[in-house]
Amino acid sequence: MSYNIAIDGPAGAGKSTIAKKLAKDLSFVYVDTGAMYRALAIFFIRKGFAAEDESGISDAVKDANVSIEYVNGEQQVILNGENVTPILRTEEVGNMASASSVYKAVRAHLLELQRSLAASKDVIMDGRDIGTCILPNADLKIFLTATSAERARRRCEELKQKGENADYEKIKKDIEERDYRDSHREIAPLKQAEDAIYLDSSDLNIDEVVERIKSYIK
Ligand code: DC
Repeated sequence: MSYNIAIDGPAGAGKSTIAKKLAKDLSFVYVDTGAMYRALAIFFIRKGFAAEDESGISDAVKDANVSIEYVNGEQQVILNGENVTPILRTEEVGNMASASSVYKAVRAHLLELQRSLAASKDVIMDGRDIGTCILPNADLKIFLTATSAERARRRCEELKQKGENADYEKIKKDIEERDYRDSHREIAPLKQAEDAIYLDSSDLNIDEVVERIKSYIK
């Protein structure tokens, strides 16, 4: 039997940084489900769909083949044979991922891939609906969050370190809009599973969060 850890939470809470570190320390496989929604978003953007076009997007999604590979332990997302990993992390792609992931057909398209990855391996999977919907029987569920002000501050730091411009107020507004959309959608909204442990990382550093989660593993 594989051991599954589900980490859910809003954008910018540190899920992927924490999950990657934990996966390395525990020799688990890290599965970033947001990256899969982002790969589909690239497909929709390239096809010229508006985010509101539910019927067009729902019809087209069957032509987007998403799969996962690992290179030196790092997840790579393959979209119709192309490794799109380097172009997943833009605001445009993130916004399209948040908008298109509300559609039933889009979520259904990724469900089996996500479940099958966890069935055969010890995984740490992060996203919005892992503990509530994808892996309801996960061995450990964490709901990782932080205030929107702190998440915006971290995102600004990240952009500055990459030498990019960072507009704090705009980033905070974007984060709050995305939170609202992710947690108010009809299907699989972002919410804490009843049996998940709530962890606010606003005043904790990465190592403190990682150690806290390790202490919950049985
Ligand atoms: O975690 P992220 O920022 O890479 O995710 C991008 C978007 O994908 C997010 O705004 C909502 C969507 N998403 C989702 O609906 N369900 C998941 N399990 C993961 C991401």
